[in-house]
Formats: sequence, C-alpha cells, structure tokens
Amino acid sequence: MSRKKIALIGAGNIGGALAHLASLKELGDVVLFDIVAGVPQGKALDLAQAGPISGSDSRLCGTQEYSAIEGADVVIVTAGVPRQPGMSRDDLLSVNLGITSKVADGIGQYAPNAFVICITNPLDAMVWALQKRSGLPTHRVVGMAGVLDTARFRLFLAEEFKVSVQDVAAFVLGGHGDDMVPSIRYSSVAGVPLPEAIRLGWTTKERIDAIVDRTRKGGGEIVSLLKTGSAFYAPATAAIEMAESHLKDKRRVLPCAAYLSNQYGVDGVYAGVPVVIGEKGVERVLEIELDAEERAMFEKSVASVRGLIEAAKRIDPSYM
Ligand code: APR
Repeated sequence: MSRKKIALIGAGNIGGALAHLASLKELGDVVLFDIVAGVPQGKALDLAQAGPISGSDSRLCGTQEYSAIEGADVVIVTAGVPRQPGMSRDDLLSVNLGITSKVADGIGQYAPNAFVICITNPLDAMVWALQKRSGLPTHRVVGMAGVLDTARFRLFLAEEFKVSVQDVAAFVLGGHGDDMVPSIRYSSVAGVPLPEAIRLGWTTKERIDAIVDRTRKGGGEIVSLLKTGSAFYAPATAAIEMAESHLKDKRRVLPCAAYLSNQYGVDGVYAGVPVVIGEKGVERVLEIELDAEERAMFEKSVASVRGLIEAAKRIDPSYM
C-alpha cells in the first residue's frame, strides 16, 4: 500500500504543530513548504528525529519549491500572517489574500486532486479565494473553523458541568468570526440538550450565555495572552481531525467552512455548517432546521462573510 502524502503550506506555528500530529498519527509522509529558507527544513529534520522515539516512520521534508507537493493527497494551508493583539481576523484580509493567491496557484499546478483544508484567516474569505483561484472542485476545498470553535465551546461546557470533554457535544454554525452562531439547542451534555440542562437546574441561562460569548471570542482571548501571534495547538488538532476523516474515509460529521449551493438558503459562499467528510471530500452538507433567532444570527454571519468577499474583490479584481 502506498503512503499518503500530506503537504503543509506554511511552516510556522500551526504548520509545525500539524507536522508533529500528522507524524505522531502516521497519517502519511509530510512535506513542509514555507517561503522562509531553512525553517521548513529545520522543522522537518527536528520532527524526523522525534520519529525513533515516538515510533513513527513518517518521512518529513522541508522545501521552498511547490513541485515538492506534487501528488499530495491532503494540503493544509496556514501560509499567512496571524493576528496581533487589537487586530480582528478581518484586518488580515489584504496581506493574506496576496499570499493565498500564490498558494492557490501552487496547489492548482501541483496538487489538483488533493483535499485542501484552509486555516489562514480571515477564514471564510480565504477558503473562498483558495477555491476560486486554484480551480479545484468546491467539495475538495474546505475551511477549518467549526471543529475548533466547537472544541472551545465543549471545553468551557465540560468545565461548567465538571464532566469529561468526551461527554459534551456542541454545535456551532456560521462564519469563523465573532458573530459565529454557537447553538444552545443543538448542544448537549451526556445527550441532554442545554435548554433541558438549564431547566433541570444544572446551570443557568446566564452562565451558558457567558460561555457562548467566551466561545465567540475564544481566538481573541488567546491572542491577548500570547501577544505575538494566535492559537496553534487546537487549530492544528482540528485540521488533523478533518484530514484523517478524508484519508481514512471515516465519514465524520464535522462543522466546517463548506461551499454552499443553496443549502440554508445561501449560494456561492463558504460558511460553517455540518458536513460529512469522506474519501471524496465534502460528501454531504447536513441541513438542520434553524429557529428564527438562529437564522437571524446565521444570516448576519453570512452577510459579514459576503462583505469580506466583496472587499477581497476590490483588493484583487481578478477575483471578480
Ligand atoms: N507561502 C508560504 N508560506 C508563507 C507565505 C507564502 N507566500 N507567506 C508567509 N508564509 C509563512 C510564514 O513564513 C510563516 O512561517 O506562513 C507561516 C505562518 O506562520 P505563523 O506566522 O507562525 O502563523 P500561524 O500561527 O501558523 O497562523 C497562520 O492561520 O489561524 C490562522 O490567523 C492565522 O492567518 C494565520 C494562519
């Protein structure tokens, strides 16, 4: 059986964590690409030297050449600039759009059959640009946001209920911004929906509202602590879960930024929805019923994604 090939575009904080996880899980051989000479090579060598200790036979290499990603099964994109304190994800649009365009050209040329996961922010606009410019089919280009946002929501809920994170399920819709839609109705502890947990007196509406608010601002909380960049361990873990579902055809149902063609009444943009990820990529978008409040929040979130796409088109008219 041939080995899978995982190309990581961007070998910074998230790229390094992705390479480490892919190697620990032996998902395949790993190519780290970065424009800074020596960084991907150094990280690849360091991680390869961890292999004899962790028992991983994944091969790792670093490169400045797009030709090295040829034939990749999965490409995960983190090339770009992360947030600094005081910045929103949207502040990154102009600089990261230019970088994403170059990355899209490299993927389109050398890995047109890959399953591509975008992490670069502002996520919903960058994944849109990556798909449009690379020309890959929409079901093979997704954005990582919901798995991370739900993980944050689950952690805070598990702490609130003092139970294992494994016994908490959470649901987040919409864009990867501060107007994302963490759904209380569809989130549960031990299978008990949150509204019922409130009714039973396990927590209060006010405490859940505070958790929702903290989830929305979860990325910013880490930026303000780190001061020199943004979160990287949890984002990498989230993207690896998505990659693994594709590589092993697990058909996990995961919240991802997926291209919508009239699902949820939205057409032609990426937004966070639950999808089935399998061998073919995004195999299905699950449509759930939203109540009036959830729909209003979802639409607001999609409107801000559309606003970012329009801004991207103004910055680079080739996206028109
Ligand atoms: N091609 C390839 N890599 C590039 C390019 C490019 N054109 N431009 C920049 N890079 C590389 C940088 O050299 C750096 O190593 O992208 C890497 C980004 O790494 P970090 O600065 O450590 O950022 P990271 O925390 O990994 O986040 C990357 O993901 O979550 C988002 O907002 C975050 O947009 C940011 C991205």
